[in-house]
Amino acid sequence: MSDAVPRETDTLQRLRDEALAAIAQAGDPAALNQVRVRFTGKRSELADVQKRMKDLSPDGRRALGQALNAFRAEFDAAYATRDAELASAALAARLESERLDLTLPPRRLRPGRPHLLTQVEQEMLDVFIGMGFQVAEGPEAEAGVYNFDLLNIEPDHPARQEMDTIYVDGFDDVVLRTHTSPVQARVMTTQQPPIAVVVPGRTYRADSVDATHSPVFSQVEGLVVGEGITMADLRGTLLAFSRALFGEDRDIRLRPSFFPFTEPSAEVDVSFDAPGGNHGWLEILGAGMVDPNVLAMCGIDPERYSGFAFGIGIERVAMLRHGVRDIREFFESDVRFVAHF
Ligand code: DAH
Repeated sequence: MSDAVPRETDTLQRLRDEALAAIAQAGDPAALNQVRVRFTGKRSELADVQKRMKDLSPDGRRALGQALNAFRAEFDAAYATRDAELASAALAARLESERLDLTLPPRRLRPGRPHLLTQVEQEMLDVFIGMGFQVAEGPEAEAGVYNFDLLNIEPDHPARQEMDTIYVDGFDDVVLRTHTSPVQARVMTTQQPPIAVVVPGRTYRADSVDATHSPVFSQVEGLVVGEGITMADLRGTLLAFSRALFGEDRDIRLRPSFFPFTEPSAEVDVSFDAPGGNHGWLEILGAGMVDPNVLAMCGIDPERYSGFAFGIGIERVAMLRHGVRDIREFFESDVRFVAHF
């Protein structure tokens, strides 16, 4: 029995060397945990040593107890150190794998912006809103009553053919509106004067496509009805509009024309001075005094009220202002055109 203590101490010394080597070799937390089970678990050699302690003398037990404590302390310290190393290695690996290179140049942002037509429409509306107009809207698929009848365009009126109307299949008397004028009728049949509205929107005609024609285009319609409204009000309004949009040096000129819903009617030109001494007139819109017959059909007393109206092509204004030569540019979505404005 007297050799027992040195033998157990030798065993402990061997276990210590093996354990420290195993701890140093453990490559990840799971392997490290295995080392702990192997060297300190219930079925470890260490447990056997502990079990055999009861057979020793009290002195031998004390001596071995101290050696066991020393083993435990050294094991635990080495274990904790390796555990910390593995944790920081894991963190470092993760940081490396999730690394962001903040010195990379960012992808260039390309902020969007409204289409040129939308910009011009907004500018036009702003001018009229500044004069006190309200904005009204109406449907693009429109009843013939509004698109034609209430505007004095009778069924066999040549204007119906001239306008190359697109009819909506399967509906009686529904068309894609050929102009924004039907909204005049919509407003007048629901509202009594004073009226001052502008109506932006898309319009449709079965035109064949060329540099100045498109089956889809857009207009801003205007309507003012009140007591004592005259052609001078029409002229003043359109002059102020033209100057706001094209420049303070502009003038306008009214040429006699015909529209079924206005009497008298006019085509309105705006003056231009091109470099090189060229000057002249460009047609920008149609206008006139609302026909008393239209007022009456819409439920407004023509004895008491009068009004003026106008219709402006937005593409035309945009083309004149921005030097766009071909109306198709607006609808082809070529990014070079879209991004230019
Ligand atoms: N609706 C006409 C067109 O599309 C334009 C127009 C002319 C509108 C005279 C009006 C107006 O309100 O008074 O050709």
